Amino acid sequence: MISKIKTNFCGIEFKNPVVIASTDIGRSVENFEKFAKAGVGGIITKSVTDAAPLQSKGITMFDIRTIDGVPVDDCDTVPDNYYFFSRGGSMIAMEKFEETAKEILQIAKQYDVVPIASICASKIENWVAYAKRFEEMGYPMLELNLGNPHGEASKDKLGFKISQETDLCVEVASSVVNAVNIPVVAKLTPHVADLTVLTKALEQAGVKAVTVMHRYQGLVIDHETLEPVIGGYAAIGGPWMKPLSLANVAKVRNATSLEIMGSNGADSAQDVLDFIYAGAGLVQIGSSMMLKGVEYSRNLVAELEAFFDASEKTVSQLCGEVARKIISYKELNKISARKAVIDTEKCLQCADKPCLERCYYQALTPTGGTLVHDDDSCSGCGMCKAVCTYNAVRIEKI
Ligand SMILES: Cc1cc2nc3c(=O)[nH]c(=O)nc-3n(C[C@H](O)[C@H](O)[C@H](O)COP(=O)(O)O)c2cc1C
Repeated sequence: MISKIKTNFCGIEFKNPVVIASTDIGRSVENFEKFAKAGVGGIITKSVTDAAPLQSKGITMFDIRTIDGVPVDDCDTVPDNYYFFSRGGSMIAMEKFEETAKEILQIAKQYDVVPIASICASKIENWVAYAKRFEEMGYPMLELNLGNPHGEASKDKLGFKISQETDLCVEVASSVVNAVNIPVVAKLTPHVADLTVLTKALEQAGVKAVTVMHRYQGLVIDHETLEPVIGGYAAIGGPWMKPLSLANVAKVRNATSLEIMGSNGADSAQDVLDFIYAGAGLVQIGSSMMLKGVEYSRNLVAELEAFFDASEKTVSQLCGEVARKIISYKELNKISARKAVIDTEKCLQCADKPCLERCYYQALTPTGGTLVHDDDSCSGCGMCKAVCTYNAVRIEKI
């Protein structure tokens, strides 16, 4: 029987589409082995860099909060949705990472996990030198960290400052593509006006795949001290980010032929599937793996395996399933208009009438103890249905 969860990305076999994103998990052999044993398909190493400010130990600061801004202070209170706000962890100098990188290759072979090397350099010659070194060691794939949100850490162009200059980004990517024979994946920032413009340019430059997308730069405020948490601008992410990332994945999928690694906001097995439906061939998970741990990643892979055992389709057959169905604003006109219909038996004429207050089209009028609905004014937006406590509204096509 063909394994439906197995997948091919840029010519490389992955036993499943779950990849641990480049994080502090990928900085040591011990971490790599723990997550490799848990059954993930690939693990990306921590970025190596030539930029001294990004190597400094002091920059590593994590702040984890509930979506309401309350600090998470024990493992049992990690909610499904959270903010992971961070500076660092510190990246590693290539020279210091070489031995670890070689040992990681052995572990990867032992557990049938694809090891992917991540690079974040500030000078073209170092992008190229590090890429060649990883290829010589035996790494089968490279990810270029062209999007990290700490790009202001140095006066040299780094991270998202590179993605923001299409020509520079293309220069870095094509220099590496021309220097090595292994597939090169460009990991991009969402901090650009239109990711499809950048990805089309990278496609022309010979890049075969992109990671969409790195984290945003954010600001979190401590309400007690009125201080910026962890000093100010830093990387922000969490499961709430998923819809933004999915939109970018689908846009790139529909605009280019590049293969895509989805990243930023995947937390559950369902999230992995959502990224696949949007057009990602592999899905990276970083924050949730770090925060929720090895057992969590084992369960996630098991859940995904159960899904694909029952599925009639493979990962690649499902890839882009939803992206294909996305309609443009122009095409919206082809969809028939809708209107709200009030079920007068279910409508209890409640005292506060949230539907009335929240109808911004003046389509509802209280008349003689009942609500009169004006079809002409109604936009069919569905707000009245959303706020009705008694399930007394349905939306119908006109
Ligand atoms: C603590 C931490 C360290 C990270 N380090 C790196 C890094 O060295 N290189 C890189 O490209 N991305 C790094 N990232 C970004 C992740 O790889 C990933 O793109 C991002 O967190 C969004 O995915 P997620 O929602 O699954 O976390 C790091 C993220 C976190 C939380």
